[in-house]
Amino acid sequence: MQLIIQQIMSDISKMELAARYIREGKLVAFPTDTVFGLGANALDPLAVARIFEVKERPSFDPLIVHVASMEDVDRLSIGGDERVYRLAEKFWPGPLTMVLPKSALVPDIVTSGLPTVGIRMPDHQTALELLRLSGCPIAAPSANKFGRLSPTSPQHVQKQLPEVDLILEGENPRVGIESTIISLNQEGFEILRHGILTREEIEAVVPFYSPEDQQQAVVAPGMLKSHYSPGKPLYFLDDPRSSQLPRQKAGLLSFSGKDITGYHSVIRLSENNDLKEYAVNLFASIHQLEDSHAEFILVEPVPETGIGIAIMDRLRKAAYQYRQ
Ligand code: TXA
Ligand code: MG
Repeated sequence: MQLIIQQIMSDISKMELAARYIREGKLVAFPTDTVFGLGANALDPLAVARIFEVKERPSFDPLIVHVASMEDVDRLSIGGDERVYRLAEKFWPGPLTMVLPKSALVPDIVTSGLPTVGIRMPDHQTALELLRLSGCPIAAPSANKFGRLSPTSPQHVQKQLPEVDLILEGENPRVGIESTIISLNQEGFEILRHGILTREEIEAVVPFYSPEDQQQAVVAPGMLKSHYSPGKPLYFLDDPRSSQLPRQKAGLLSFSGKDITGYHSVIRLSENNDLKEYAVNLFASIHQLEDSHAEFILVEPVPETGIGIAIMDRLRKAAYQYRQ
């Protein structure tokens, strides 16, 4: 009992310390429903600059601002678009980021000079508590080095970003891959980054719009070809090179559970081929294979429907630098 009380006390004081750090311009890593974020006061340009520095993130890559209330959305964005409220009603708190016209309150460093800001209300008790207690909107990219695997546990954050001022613990992310990012124009919404929320689910609220021959003006690095890279080569099983590799040196991410003998290690992400469960464990499994003695990571492709689109998007980017 005594121990439990001490634990609760230390959790509370850690939260208070984290909120104070945010207000003071320090960096706090914290869990969200999707992945761990590396947070700083979004209204403090110097604090935000440190995110870019610690993450080694290029300055052209804008950050997502996390909020705990619609009042914050009204302060940070302009337009009063009623679709935003409908989408928020349905999907927030949750794994959806909306790119909206920004207000003057948002420092340019947050948006990399873009006239828009990405905003999200995470569905996570610890994240929401941190937002409320600090009283600041929090700019937070995923808490990994730029281009590397996203973190889904405090240990993953510690591995890549030991210099962070504080790593807040809490329930580990339930979703496991980053939020779906959409932008809105007069026609409807466009998907800038796929996530667990699918086009079909969002389409039930606002029409889908895909600019056909229009060049993508905004570079959302979620859209870069190479991203989410593990520290060792990752190939798909249907890549001809994968059959040349000695199985005993390869860690396999299996989807179907078929033909899995002889590998150094095998991880089956979902016993019943459930893509949602697969997504939740995806980054953690690649971290595990990255830390193992396997020399390569082999991945069986998953069906590209629904959430499978977001999963294959992350896997292709992780494999990209090893393509011919
Ligand atoms: O689930 C998530 O979204 C996680 C958690 C921590 O919330 N965050 C995350 O942040 O994935 P990050 O920085 O790793 O990815 C943010 C993406 C980047 O690809 C960035 O380019 C895009 O969001 N983005 C942010 N603001 C944007 C804007 N104004 N226009 C277009 N893309 C934007
Ligand atoms: Mg990221």
